[in-house]
Amino acid sequence: MEYVELGKSGFKVSVIGLGTWQIGTRLWGWGTDYNESDAIATIHQAIDLGINFIDTAEIYGGGRSEEIIGKAIAGRRDEVFLATKVWLTNLSYDKVIKAAERSIRRLGVDVIDLYQVHWPNPFIPIEQTMRGMEKLVKEGKVRCIGVSNFSVNQLKRAQEALSSEEIVSNQVEYNLLNRKIERDLLPYARQEKVTIIAYSPLAKGILTGKYAPGNIPRDLLRKVDILFSSENLRRANKILEVLREIAERRGKDVSQVALNWLIKEPTILAIPGAKRPQHVKVNVGATGWRLTDEEVKKIDEVSSSFKPERLKSYASIPFRLLRFW
Ligand SMILES: NC(=O)c1ccc[n+]([C@@H]2O[C@H](COP(=O)([O-])OP(=O)(O)OC[C@H]3O[C@@H](n4cnc5c(N)ncnc54)[C@H](OP(=O)(O)O)[C@@H]3O)[C@@H](O)[C@H]2O)c1
Repeated sequence: MEYVELGKSGFKVSVIGLGTWQIGTRLWGWGTDYNESDAIATIHQAIDLGINFIDTAEIYGGGRSEEIIGKAIAGRRDEVFLATKVWLTNLSYDKVIKAAERSIRRLGVDVIDLYQVHWPNPFIPIEQTMRGMEKLVKEGKVRCIGVSNFSVNQLKRAQEALSSEEIVSNQVEYNLLNRKIERDLLPYARQEKVTIIAYSPLAKGILTGKYAPGNIPRDLLRKVDILFSSENLRRANKILEVLREIAERRGKDVSQVALNWLIKEPTILAIPGAKRPQHVKVNVGATGWRLTDEEVKKIDEVSSSFKPERLKSYASIPFRLLRFW
C-alpha cells in the first residue's frame, strides 16, 4: 500500500481507501445485497492489506454502516483513520455537534479522524457549521475537518469561516467517466494542498467492466441512474476497451488500471466501495506500480471524449424503475 498526507494535517492515509455506502444500505428492500458477515470480513481484509482510510456517513443505511464499521474495528482502532460525514440537514451549530456525537457512539470510538460536511446546504450558513466543527475539534471529538461535493467557491467560503483549523479534504465524484473537477477544483486543490477524495472512482462499478446493457446492479440508486442506461454503457465500453488492452498487457485487472490512473498524483486518494473481501483485494492491487506516460495519454484521450447521455426529465425516473422491476 502507498500512503499520502491528508491535506496539511500530518496524517498519512492509504491512497486506496474503503468506501462503505454499500455496507448497511437498505432502501425499502431495494438497497444493496450486502450481508453483515461479508461486510465485516471486507473491512478486516482492507485493514489487513494496509488500507487505513475508511469512509462512511451518518446517512448510509441510517447509521447502520457506521455501526457495522464500529463492530469491525473494535480492538483495531489504532489501525484505521475513520472518516464520516454529517448529512446536509444537520449543519446548524447545535445539530452538527449532536450528529458527531451520535456518529461517535455508533462507531464505538472517542474521536472521528475526519469529519466531513456531506453536501453544502444553501439554507444553512456554512459559518454556523464550521463553528460547530471547530468546537468539535477543540473538545477532542474530531481530528480533521473536511467537506464533500463543494465547489471551489464553497470551499473557499468554508475555509474563511474557520478561525484556527484548515479544511484538509474535499470528497467529490472523480473517475474516467466524470472528469469535471479537472477544470477548476483539482488545480485549486493542488495549489492549496487540499486532498481530493475521489468517490465513485470505478464509476459505481462500470469501470470494472462487469456491467452490460441488461445486466446492471439491483440496487435502487444505480437502477435509476442514467449512467447505467444501455446507451451510456455502450459509450463507456470505448474506454473499457482501452483499459482492457492495458490491463492484459500489464497483467492487471481492468479496475486496477482505472484506479491507478486516478491515484497517479498525491493530491488524490480513491475510495472504491466494496462489500466483498475479494473486491478489496483486487482494488489494493491498484497500488505499487505506475502506468507509463504513454498509457496515461491513451486513457486520457479516450476518456476525454466520453459524453454521457443525460436524463431527459426527472419525470422519467419512475418509468426507468418500472422497466427494471
Ligand atoms: N460524498 C458523497 O456524496 C458520496 C457519493 C457516493 C459515494 N460516496 C462514497 O464513495 C464510495 C465509492 O463510491 P461508489 O460506491 O458510488 O462507486 P464505486 O466505488 O465506483 O463502485 C463501487 C461498486 O463497484 C463494484 N466493485 C468495487 N470493487 C470491485 C472489484 N474489484 N471488482 C468488481 N466490482 C467491484 C461493487 O459493485 P457491487 O456492489 O455491485 O458488486 C461496488 O458496489 C461509497 O462507498 C461511499 O463511501 C460518497
